[in-house]
Amino acid sequence: MNAQALIDTAEALVADDKGLLAMDESNTTCNKRFAAAGIAQTEETRRSYRELLITTPDLEECISGAILYDETIRQQTKDGTLFVEVLKDAGVIPGIKVDIGAKDLAGHPGEKVTEGLDGLRIRLHSYFEMGARFAKWRAVIALGDGIPSQGCIEANAQALARYAALCQESGLVPVVEPEVLMDGDHGIETCRAATSEVLFRVFGELHSQGVMLEGMILKPNMVLPGLTCATQESVDEIAEATVRCLLRMVPAAVPGIAFLSGGQDGTLASARLSAMNARFKPPNARVPWALAFSFARAIQNPALEIWAGKEANRSKAQKALYHRAKCNRAARRGEYSV
Ligand code: 13P
Repeated sequence: MNAQALIDTAEALVADDKGLLAMDESNTTCNKRFAAAGIAQTEETRRSYRELLITTPDLEECISGAILYDETIRQQTKDGTLFVEVLKDAGVIPGIKVDIGAKDLAGHPGEKVTEGLDGLRIRLHSYFEMGARFAKWRAVIALGDGIPSQGCIEANAQALARYAALCQESGLVPVVEPEVLMDGDHGIETCRAATSEVLFRVFGELHSQGVMLEGMILKPNMVLPGLTCATQESVDEIAEATVRCLLRMVPAAVPGIAFLSGGQDGTLASARLSAMNARFKPPNARVPWALAFSFARAIQNPALEIWAGKEANRSKAQKALYHRAKCNRAARRGEYSV
């Protein structure tokens, strides 16, 4: 393991107020989003859309890394350039989603465990050869009556830690993503308690598996009230609750925290991230890690809607993508307002 290379990559992913573009939707998820937008669900439309994303002019001003999917990392632009090469030429670090999805956890109705550890070492090796320098694994934790269970939290935390250790062995920076879902009518305190417990377990397992914290990125949820909760806290209250929770649970050795958006409206996600940075970034206060973003829907949604599968809309869609990326860079500086 080249520890310094891992540290350099992890730091580069959160440097210069930039963040990650998550474009690693599985074919099933991508097809679902295409279907909702009236776009044909074919390999060629997925390729064409992803080409649109990565060839957005000046994207590298705001985006440090892009998370690809197995199909996407093998794809090329129309003129025959591998996507990985397009990204590298622009100074964007290629990353890869390596889990194979959240499956029902036996004996735990309503809960999931993320799979993909079997054969992972070999897959990581080939992704590194293809040019990837970081990876992503997402665990999902649902909130509800009597859940999350300890069994679900432990199974997911252990899988995340084993994935992270394998990544570092292969020279890839692990993006560790334990997502406490927004679905439900629970209050913000329920989300805070579950997020704290999950992070406590995740960092315990990362320690047990010998993961070097300086060479990883944490990709957590923000601490939010449930989507259908009657009380929706303000942007500032959410920023405060999220950072206070992370301060208690995330070791200072971790270089960066890159939030997922989790289905939040894009402008709200940016506003909440901006409020965190405005309140907690030096010189206002001191947090030990960069507070960054690794959004999929909160960056992509307007672009996907505008594109609608039509070549004529490409340039307008790219402008929309660039706009959201720029908003999130402003949010990293605490300078975004809706
Ligand atoms: P969202 O930002 O849409 O929640 O996606 C995050 C993610 O995990 C994709 O990598």
